[in-house]
Amino acid sequence: MPYFPSATKSLLSKCLTRDIWEQCKDRRDKFGFTFRQCIFSGSKYTESGVGVYAGSHDSYYAFSPFMDRIIEAYHGHKPSDKHLSSMDYNSLKCPAFPPDEDKMINSTRIRVARNLAAYPLGTQISRSDRKEVERLVTSALSEFTGDLKGKYYSLESMTDAEKKQLIADHFLFKGGDKYLQSAGLEREWPEARGIYHNDAKTFLVWVNEEDQLRIISMQQGSNIGQVFSRLADAANKIEQKAKFANDDHLGYISTCPTNSGTGLRASVHINLPKLMRNKELHQSIADKYHVQIRGIHGEHTETEPRPTSCITRHILDQRYPSTNRALPLRQPVVSSWQFGWLRAALLEQVPSPEWPMDLCHCICRYWCGWDAEDHARV
Ligand code: ARG
Repeated sequence: MPYFPSATKSLLSKCLTRDIWEQCKDRRDKFGFTFRQCIFSGSKYTESGVGVYAGSHDSYYAFSPFMDRIIEAYHGHKPSDKHLSSMDYNSLKCPAFPPDEDKMINSTRIRVARNLAAYPLGTQISRSDRKEVERLVTSALSEFTGDLKGKYYSLESMTDAEKKQLIADHFLFKGGDKYLQSAGLEREWPEARGIYHNDAKTFLVWVNEEDQLRIISMQQGSNIGQVFSRLADAANKIEQKAKFANDDHLGYISTCPTNSGTGLRASVHINLPKLMRNKELHQSIADKYHVQIRGIHGEHTETEPRPTSCITRHILDQRYPSTNRALPLRQPVVSSWQFGWLRAALLEQVPSPEWPMDLCHCICRYWCGWDAEDHARV
């Protein structure tokens, strides 16, 4: 059984009891991915927040004594719970923000993580299947027209000028992430990896990074409806060509259990100059509303020195089937933001450190139809 120093806080260390280890230690999923591979990254990097990666859709069931605990601890989602996720943008209620709130939001980004049903996840996929995933996805993307029309840049073959531009746009994923490496997600890097973006740079797809697809929609301003519609439209079109792994308990299947469910993360990029000087207060507000603060360059990046942060939330279950009410997650989930160039001129304009709460409320209210009172009950 892995040894965890006493300061270890990862979910892996909390969920992996001796008993569960004994039950699972020699298990494999149906693609041959072992339980030890599943927990390797968090065993090696004890500073992990979670420390677990699945090898395939089947890992969630083959290792269920353990995976059920991880999913429940992170998402509050029990083994008997059903997941309901809707990419129908017509049912999204999102009236425009009032002008004062709108002014505070530099940009809005929503992404979903998706994997193809016909293959194991990136942790376990073979070299030839990974290429096949790239081929399938890029052939679907090549048929995109209108607002979604764009170009695929393969990491292997892009020119230096393209690379420079993609770095300048903060679009490029670079590899070299120790967590992904330890999970086998960077094998044969950069082969079969790449980035698609539309001409307006409001729509992006990452191919064969942590998940086989990260479908991303973003634009300046606070128009959540537009951002989500673009995303849903693209995801639905890709799915017509290549089915996504999904089931009615877990929703969309992701490599990291944090993303299971909708696979969705919505974030806004806002300036909070006063709060940036009071990290404790900033963090306590974020914790209270189950959102995470991140640097402008995404996960594991610092919020400093730029006085910019983002507040996001993502949703495992969008609706309680019985009441059609939104079901909030119990745990915060991470967010990321890539728009370095979108810093607004809000510096020093924040009226009080309290206002982000209202902003969170309105984002949550518009996004999932719940109010501050619901939030407080979570
Ligand atoms: N494996 C890392 C950890 O446990 C990242 C977890 C969440 N982030 C992600 N990109 N899946 O800390």
